[in-house]
Amino acid sequence: MSKRLPFKKVAVVGTGILGAQIALIAAHRGYKVKVYDPREGAFQQTYEKIRTDLKAKKVKPIIPWSEWAACAQAVRQVANLGKTVKDADLVIEAIPENLELKTAVFRELGEKAPAGAILATNSSSMPVSRFEGVSGRPERCLNIHFYFPLQGVNMVDLMGGTRTLPEVLEKGADWIRSIGFIPLTVKKELLGFCFNRVWRAIKREALYMWGNGFVDYQDVDRAWMVFTGMKEGPFALMDKVGLDVVWDIEMVYYNDSKDPKDHPPTALKQKIEKGELGVKSGQGFYTYPNPAYLSQGFLKPSM
Ligand SMILES: NC(=O)c1ccc[n+]([C@@H]2O[C@H](COP(=O)([O-])OP(=O)(O)OC[C@H]3O[C@@H](n4cnc5c(N)ncnc54)[C@H](O)[C@@H]3O)[C@@H](O)[C@H]2O)c1
Repeated sequence: MSKRLPFKKVAVVGTGILGAQIALIAAHRGYKVKVYDPREGAFQQTYEKIRTDLKAKKVKPIIPWSEWAACAQAVRQVANLGKTVKDADLVIEAIPENLELKTAVFRELGEKAPAGAILATNSSSMPVSRFEGVSGRPERCLNIHFYFPLQGVNMVDLMGGTRTLPEVLEKGADWIRSIGFIPLTVKKELLGFCFNRVWRAIKREALYMWGNGFVDYQDVDRAWMVFTGMKEGPFALMDKVGLDVVWDIEMVYYNDSKDPKDHPPTALKQKIEKGELGVKSGQGFYTYPNPAYLSQGFLKPSM
């Protein structure tokens, strides 16, 4: 084991799109990784799905293709939660975004993980304080929130709960660095964490302007692409995330604030009801597989 690793054993609970990626990356960086998912063959299925998707998109993943199989083999799939976490130093929960489910898992983790283990949630929207209490060790609970890790988005939001010890936050940050990612530390609990919130502010404004008929979504994307030099704008990114997912996330913020300005526009709901969900359905703001923003003329002034 490399000297730079802050500890040895990582357990991942839930091996869907995010959990499987976290497990692969941890294994690649030399951790002993065990995973649990009640869905039979979940890790292998998700592994194949991610591999196929990234190959189809011609993405160069942060784990070289030649090392994928070895990493997958190094990840040990275990048949029950207790055995998965019994000797873990860090447990990362990546189960569906549902408060009841997460609460039940954190209760069980509190009973079955070693007393010194750190318990982290990869939740996109819930601060760990919403379920830290049931674990019996709120001082060892954290939010560790990934983005699209294998695609090279190598940053992670890190946030403590109401009683997280400073040394636990520091260990979380060390672990994040040890897998080659940048910890974005949130100093006080904040819905949306660090970058998620920045992205959300852009998304909310873009949706407001388009949804109320002020501007064309393509002009917002053009402006963003010209100004930042990025290959896609906010609406293209929302298509990637999935418009139904965007709606649900915006509603989390709205339900928290009850501020009408936080409510996503009706026009977005109408698109979702028509089945226009973005890349996954072939139609969102753009039409796939050849969206207009990738066309040569998209950023050219035309007379
Ligand atoms: N998808 C994203 O882009 C993304 C990005 C960042 C964070 N997240 C967060 O990560 C978490 C997981 O999201 P996902 O997209 O990987 O979901 P997913 O639906 O792909 O995977 C969830 C997995 O959890 C398993 N599961 C369900 N109940 C379980 C239990 N009790 N114990 C163990 N496993 C269980 C399911 O079988 C499934 O394999 C969510 O909290 C989500 O908000 C998702």
